[in-house]
Amino acid sequence: MRISGSTALVTGANRGLGARLVTELLGRDAATVYVAARDPENVAADIRRDPRVRVLALDVTEPDSVAAAAAAATDVDLLINNAGVLGFGDVLTGDLALFERDLATNYLGALRVTRAWLPSLRAGGVRGAAAVVNVLTLIALAPVAPMAGYCASKAAAHSMTQALRAAVREQGIEVIGAYPGGIDTDMLAGVEADKADPGEVAARILTGIEAGQQVIWPDDASAGAGKLYLGDPVGLETMLAA
Ligand SMILES: NC(=O)c1ccc[n+]([C@@H]2O[C@H](COP(=O)([O-])OP(=O)(O)OC[C@H]3O[C@@H](n4cnc5c(N)ncnc54)[C@H](OP(=O)(O)O)[C@@H]3O)[C@@H](O)[C@H]2O)c1
Repeated sequence: MRISGSTALVTGANRGLGARLVTELLGRDAATVYVAARDPENVAADIRRDPRVRVLALDVTEPDSVAAAAAAATDVDLLINNAGVLGFGDVLTGDLALFERDLATNYLGALRVTRAWLPSLRAGGVRGAAAVVNVLTLIALAPVAPMAGYCASKAAAHSMTQALRAAVREQGIEVIGAYPGGIDTDMLAGVEADKADPGEVAARILTGIEAGQQVIWPDDASAGAGKLYLGDPVGLETMLAA
């Protein structure tokens, strides 16, 4: 799908990867970018100044918030489900309240948002191009121990991505999964790990969308691990468990 001329919406767009996706969309000549944030006050002033930007209040876990935002943005043809949370905890001792929060946001939130914007996306599909992009993670495909609840929520979102792809295939809507490795944002602050630059990850996601990829590995670490996963899923599981 071409970014130039598109009408995009990014959830969780006030900081981190979401903010970089917005900048990158504007740089690639999107016609309109809906910048969706739980608190619109947190959207940076320089982004607001761009005449193509529309700021929307959107909490993906709140049905009323999603319905109100969808009613205010009925022309979206590129939906990027980026909003996410990460609660730390392992599978045996992790706080189940955090597991529930991650599921509610990363899985059910993304699904709720997608359903709400389907009429708009269908209209885009009829015009010739529409896409849903779910920002997942490499560790949706095999877990790391201290993030068991988060990995499970993203695994659920990965499965939803696959189900959705089949469900809307005939409606001209592409469904794309992006599977980054670690990214240098607030989400991983304090975690010692190799982390990709969020601007670079955003650019690689948009390049993947423009190239028609259904599965995007948007950084060097995920590209290498993704290759392993495709040939040897248990090999990736063993590698990440270590
Ligand atoms: N960082 C990584 O290493 C990494 C790796 C792979 C995938 N990802 C994925 O990339 C996406 C972006 O993450 P990030 O690294 O940019 O994290 P981040 O810096 O923590 O930003 C998360 C964003 O999601 C928003 N958000 C959280 N809960 C929300 C809700 N209920 N409704 C609406 N917005 C909500 C936050 O809004 P507030 O400002 O209001 O909290 C914030 O804008 C997530 O889906 C994450 O799982 C991240």
